[in-house]
Amino acid sequence: MLINYEKIEANERKKLMAGSIIPRSIAWIVTKDLNDIINIAPFSYFTGLSSNPPTLIVSIGHKSDGTPKDTLKNIRETKKCTICLPKEENLKKMHWTSKELDNCIDEAKEFDIKLQEIEKDFPPIIKGVPLSFFCNLYQEIDLKESNTIPLILEIKKEYINDNNIDEKSRITFKPIARVGGNYTFLSKYIDIPKIP
Ligand SMILES: Cc1cc2nc3c(=O)[nH]c(=O)nc-3n(C[C@H](O)[C@H](O)[C@H](O)COP(=O)(O)O)c2cc1C
Repeated sequence: MLINYEKIEANERKKLMAGSIIPRSIAWIVTKDLNDIINIAPFSYFTGLSSNPPTLIVSIGHKSDGTPKDTLKNIRETKKCTICLPKEENLKKMHWTSKELDNCIDEAKEFDIKLQEIEKDFPPIIKGVPLSFFCNLYQEIDLKESNTIPLILEIKKEYINDNNIDEKSRITFKPIARVGGNYTFLSKYIDIPKIP
């Protein structure tokens, strides 16, 4: 089968790409609006970009009414976000926070998610997550007609829960990843083969 991306609809491309580019880590993003209302939502069009400057990229779309998703709106307004990496125990509530809600609704209150302030200049982390990045908006990318906006975010600080990293700087939790329409846990290390 050879699929011509120019000949299929955007929703079909989305399904194919989500099933083919796997696994994708999940950025569970906490933002605040200008009135300090907390917003939490998961995003899997998310990956590291460069370590100099330390940057990552997240692509965020629009709501069904055509307005920017709250996370995009808040990052544009405040230039900040806190990206949490969820672990196994977070899966259910992480998924719940993907529900489309009005921007005046605080997902932490709506879904009883506990928060913890680590860095006073950034939104709080979700209590108990193993890793978080405190980021500033670095650059918004213009993808021409795209409804999805890739944001380059600069990592200013990283929080690591000491119980979730070993002496070789390897994470010891099971990060949740998206594979197509499902989730998986990344949990196995494989030794690097020697190059002859
Ligand atoms: C695992 C998962 C990954 C998602 N990844 C993305 C993504 O990369 N980009 C996006 O725009 N929406 C993504 N969504 C949908 C958003 O989470 C959803 O639209 C959410 O309501 C946005 O919330 P907000 O308006 O509070 O920002 C994803 C949903 C799930 C469950």
